[in-house]
Amino acid sequence: MSKKFRVFATCDIGESINLLRQRGYEVEVYPKPEAPPKSLIIEKVKSRIDGLITTLRDPIDAEVFEAGKGTLKVVAQIAVGFDNINRADANRCKIPFTHTADVLTEATAEFAFFMMGALARKMWTAEHLTRENKWGYWHPYLPFLGDEVTGKTIAVIGTGRIGLALIKKCTGFDMNILCYDPAYQNHEYVKAVQEMKDIRHAHGFSRDKTWIKYVPLEEALAEADFVSVHVPLLREGETTTPTYHLFNEKTLRTMKPTAYLVNTSRGPVVDEAALAKALRENWIAGVALDVYEKEPLPGDSPLRDPAIEDRCRLLPHFASAARITRLSTDPNRGMAGRTVQGLIDVLEGNYGGDITKMPYVVNKEAWGK
Ligand code: GLV
Repeated sequence: MSKKFRVFATCDIGESINLLRQRGYEVEVYPKPEAPPKSLIIEKVKSRIDGLITTLRDPIDAEVFEAGKGTLKVVAQIAVGFDNINRADANRCKIPFTHTADVLTEATAEFAFFMMGALARKMWTAEHLTRENKWGYWHPYLPFLGDEVTGKTIAVIGTGRIGLALIKKCTGFDMNILCYDPAYQNHEYVKAVQEMKDIRHAHGFSRDKTWIKYVPLEEALAEADFVSVHVPLLREGETTTPTYHLFNEKTLRTMKPTAYLVNTSRGPVVDEAALAKALRENWIAGVALDVYEKEPLPGDSPLRDPAIEDRCRLLPHFASAARITRLSTDPNRGMAGRTVQGLIDVLEGNYGGDITKMPYVVNKEAWGK
């Protein structure tokens, strides 16, 4: 490699940083665990770095891209979601950005499934009971019961990679599956899942016949016992199918009062004020959240109301937080490895230097013919 590339990382991504250094890169890592101030990111970009490693908490907008116009060659984000990166500005400044799709799909889907089970079977409340030494007897229904997941109906809202992975897991639990996606449908996958369901039933693995189908949003919400959200955050003006506040007073009221909502996608897909009201007024049975309108969740959030705490699980944006998923240096297994590979592809001109052929680049359209 003739040129020594300079990279600034807004967070530490573990051993993968050393792999860059071993290739001769000069890499500076922001040393604190919290996000660096935006002014520092701009300062680094203005110092003519070649690559910027970011994550979902860093606002990468017009100011950052303008600062790097003509010098910054790539933004490599360690996350699959990229709503913090302004795609139109990246395109205008002709700066490619990469993300880490695929490697976190199964980890996120299983976490959504576990959240759903923990919520419905009241594991948090039950453990509190044990720890606080309030478990005085075994009784058929006291002090409370939970709800089974097996055999129930789930609405999977968003059938991209993670939604489809969740469908696979729900199939193993003999769930009926209602699919909805505002922009992307995979009917072939749904057909294959139905075949699998039929085989499971034919061989006696599942007692009842179960089904999967695409339906309109309203039907999915009205019929489901569980609703799990897997859409990207898209705001008005960014798309013809925005997902901002897709869950609002109206859609929450469409759900059954016995139904549970799980969100591992992006916080602003759910209107939190409406959600807190839905819980307080029992429009729905419960919610498990991993993502929030503002992260970290503010101390005065209505979701922290003790009156709803038994029905409201609050996780710290943790769904992909598994060892291999986050930190493996292997680009086919870890987000860190994939981030670094995306960066290397652009800086070292892999794929004949053709951005449109680089698998981890998101905004290929800026180089389209
Ligand atoms: C996490 O939320 C991610 O987008 O990777």
